[in-house]
Amino acid sequence: MKSEVARGAEILKAGGLVAFPTETVYGLGADASNARAVARLYAVKGRPADHPVIVHFASAEQAFAWAREVPDAARRLAERFWPGPLTLILKRSELAQDFVTGGQDSVGLRVPSHPVAHELLSIFGSGVAAPSANRFGLVSPTTAAHVREDLGADVELVLEGGPSEVGIESTIVDLSGGGAVLLRPGAITKQQIEEVMKVTEKNLAAPRHPGSLERHYAPRTPARLLPAHELDRQIAVMTDRVAVLAFSRPDERVDYWLRMPREPAAYARRLYAALRELDSAGCEAILVEAPPDAPEWAAVRDRLRRACSGA
Ligand code: TXA
Ligand code: MG
Repeated sequence: MKSEVARGAEILKAGGLVAFPTETVYGLGADASNARAVARLYAVKGRPADHPVIVHFASAEQAFAWAREVPDAARRLAERFWPGPLTLILKRSELAQDFVTGGQDSVGLRVPSHPVAHELLSIFGSGVAAPSANRFGLVSPTTAAHVREDLGADVELVLEGGPSEVGIESTIVDLSGGGAVLLRPGAITKQQIEEVMKVTEKNLAAPRHPGSLERHYAPRTPARLLPAHELDRQIAVMTDRVAVLAFSRPDERVDYWLRMPREPAAYARRLYAALRELDSAGCEAILVEAPPDAPEWAAVRDRLRRACSGA
């Protein structure tokens, strides 16, 4: 009997959509060389066509074929962090067409480490375009069950790979313009990248990067991010039913309380499942206790800030 993963590769070859696990979040995959498959991917995601998508590969060698210039910096980062939760933006080669780059002259490349992703990409043998497997703007999926809840019958196959180990999207470093620019913080920290090269941080308000849109990764229930002392004060004056995400023990005045780990990697791993759970608790508001303002919390703080923005 053919394995599920081999069946996934066949579906991709035929222009279909396959959701698959990665170490960061689950991705919604389509053949990155097939305009119609990618168009369907955007339609299912509900994503604007000018937003570029990350292309996934089994090896750095395959990935770099999609770039017309591979700076030494890219090789050094790939050597150190691939396979793993890092995306590199490079100047594109002719393999990366407008429909994956959003018309830009650069392309996002990633070599994931999850064994199921790796096997799928190896059998497929080329680039797989994959945004997170959720509807645009909402919380990314970290289990196959999340994907089924979000996308249901809109995908041909959802490959099972257990809960995503990292839990938040990859770190994105842009090398297409000369220096290294951190576009999206992730499990690979700015400090870790700085061990390899100098990197600047750019907080783009520009809409080229969905990950940089202010309200993104957001639950449907209005959510607010509060410092610990404020949280306590808010709970005392709230009249609505509230759901809380916090480090401390449950407060009995609160209807729904999830306690989070005090360690950033463990927190990130649980974050999206926790937001989904709070979102479905039937409360009027979600209150989130802000993590410490420290470098190791940068990626988690970024996602929480966006999840709680504009509510
Ligand atoms: O961890 C991840 O990266 C997950 C898994 C599935 O690999 N994927 C993911 O994809 O988060 P998505 O589409 O949700 O986010 C892709 C981010 C966007 O912010 C996009 O704009 C940026 O990567 N990106 C892709 N290509 C780009 C390019 N050429 N220039 C600038 N940003 C780019
Ligand atoms: Mg996403």
